[in-house]
Amino acid sequence: EAESLATARFAVAAHRGASIERPENTLAAFAAAIAHGADGIELDVALSADGVPVVVHDDTVDRTTDGHGPVDGFTVAQLAALDAGAGEGVPTLAEVLALAEGRVEVNIEIKAPVAVPAVVEVVTGFPDLAWIVSSFHWPALVEMRERAPQSRLYPLTLGVGDPEVMRRHAVEAGHPADRVEAWFTVLVEQLGKAGFEPALAFAERIGAEGLSIWEDSLGAPEIDRIHAAGLRAYVWTVNDVARARDLADAGADAICTDDPAGVLSVRG
Ligand code: G3P
Ligand code: MG
Repeated sequence: EAESLATARFAVAAHRGASIERPENTLAAFAAAIAHGADGIELDVALSADGVPVVVHDDTVDRTTDGHGPVDGFTVAQLAALDAGAGEGVPTLAEVLALAEGRVEVNIEIKAPVAVPAVVEVVTGFPDLAWIVSSFHWPALVEMRERAPQSRLYPLTLGVGDPEVMRRHAVEAGHPADRVEAWFTVLVEQLGKAGFEPALAFAERIGAEGLSIWEDSLGAPEIDRIHAAGLRAYVWTVNDVARARDLADAGADAICTDDPAGVLSVRG
């Protein structure tokens, strides 16, 4: 039985699965995370052309599959027929939840706010699933609360990090430059100017369980502030083991990483 992210000393969540070793957001990556003993997995959700929640990070399939074009231009059958690496297609949310139920907690990150009603319908089919929901699109979390009142919400925020640093990381990670520009225009508008305190205030207002916060420049003062607001600190994306140890010492409740095996070693 997976330890809840809310009770573990610090929980280790696999970012897009064990994406350091398997193609991101594939069943193979999530299975590898489970095999390593991760407490949780994180995945990104968009909507297919025929309205099915699917697990893919970008708003196009270009970077992570052999296909080209917007995710919402493909039916779920067409997405399944693409090659997402690992000899499999783009998985549906339901496929990943079936793998995770009873094994790991799932952080469902809403990339496409239009997916919220369908996500609620899918999670309803997994009564024994432990799940939290996060999004950069804060109104999507308000809608989650309305449609699924027990939702454990985690607003996503850049926290005290520098958006320019994140922009550089995204380009270095292989995201197409034009897509990065599009995301960061939105991100900086929504979050970059807003900073840390508005994220805390929003989280408190919607009765969130925690903040899902970028690790850049984060330390004990900010984590203490999160805890003082009655919230948990879920920190992403930490692939350096020494940095993970520092953040754990600073009080992080959950660390989201591409390398769950490495970060689990910090816990001894
Ligand atoms: O959910 C945390 C993290 O995944 C947010 O950024 O771009 O990796 O989805 P991104
Ligand atoms: Mg994500």
